[in-house]
Amino acid sequence: MAAQLIKGTEISKQIREEITKEIQKLKEKHGIIPGLATILLGEDPGSKVYVGQKEKACNKLGIYSERTDLPSETSQEDLLALVEKLNNNPKIHGILVQLPLPKHIDASNVIYAIDPDKDVDCFHPVNVGKLMIGTGRFLPCTPHGIVELLRRSDITTDGKHVVVVGRSNIVGKPVMNLMLQPPPGGNATVTLCHTGTKDLAAFTKMADILIVAVGRPKTITADMVKEGVVVIDVGVNRIGKTPEGKAILAGDVDFDAVQEKASAITPVPGGVGPMTITMLMKNTVEAVKALCN
Ligand code: GUN
Repeated sequence: MAAQLIKGTEISKQIREEITKEIQKLKEKHGIIPGLATILLGEDPGSKVYVGQKEKACNKLGIYSERTDLPSETSQEDLLALVEKLNNNPKIHGILVQLPLPKHIDASNVIYAIDPDKDVDCFHPVNVGKLMIGTGRFLPCTPHGIVELLRRSDITTDGKHVVVVGRSNIVGKPVMNLMLQPPPGGNATVTLCHTGTKDLAAFTKMADILIVAVGRPKTITADMVKEGVVVIDVGVNRIGKTPEGKAILAGDVDFDAVQEKASAITPVPGGVGPMTITMLMKNTVEAVKALCN
């Protein structure tokens, strides 16, 4: 039987409606308009698309947005000076530096420089630490998006075996943390697999919920999952171009084959992707709400 499609586009729309109401309330009660600053270095086409989508989402929701595009040769010193300026700008409540950064810049130095109260990506070590002990104000965008996809599709994680494939700081490690938090957190048993894992299939076959974020198409094939698994595919791989020059996207999971065994699965595009930007908007609003308390 074909799996239930977990439609990120629709769920994201619901959440954006909720966020819009919150923004209106903040304006009416406190006279504050949430503001997000984005910084993009260089010309990477994927990063340009992402930053453009973030800017567009801000405009749609009534969030003030300030975008700075800089050449890839920008020095670390100049980038840090811009971050510091934004830290001190009262119109800006969230700062996002698009990753990856050019090789001559140490991304950790830049992330450390962002005021943790404006770190809407939840990348600063203070926020990563708070996430780990379950006291975070900001939840990281993609992992939080995954939690909402599951929750709003009535898929419980409580007591389930969640297998995560990929140990990135942006998805794998933080989603593991969210899934293992005690109630009202994920309350799941979590296994994290990575490039050092021997016999990946032995682990993925045990998953009740399989979260895949590795950046390689068809990493997960049908023989690697059990019947009834819930699959969350975080991959966004550009596997070609249409005759019109539009990117053709594929996830990390062999969708056509795996959906025959899964009980639910996210499509690519239209699954996790739209949720990441929506949760970024949510964090920008959360940053303002913290100021109003
Ligand atoms: N590059 C890829 N994903 C992300 C993200 O969520 N935030 C930032 N800042 N850069 C990224």
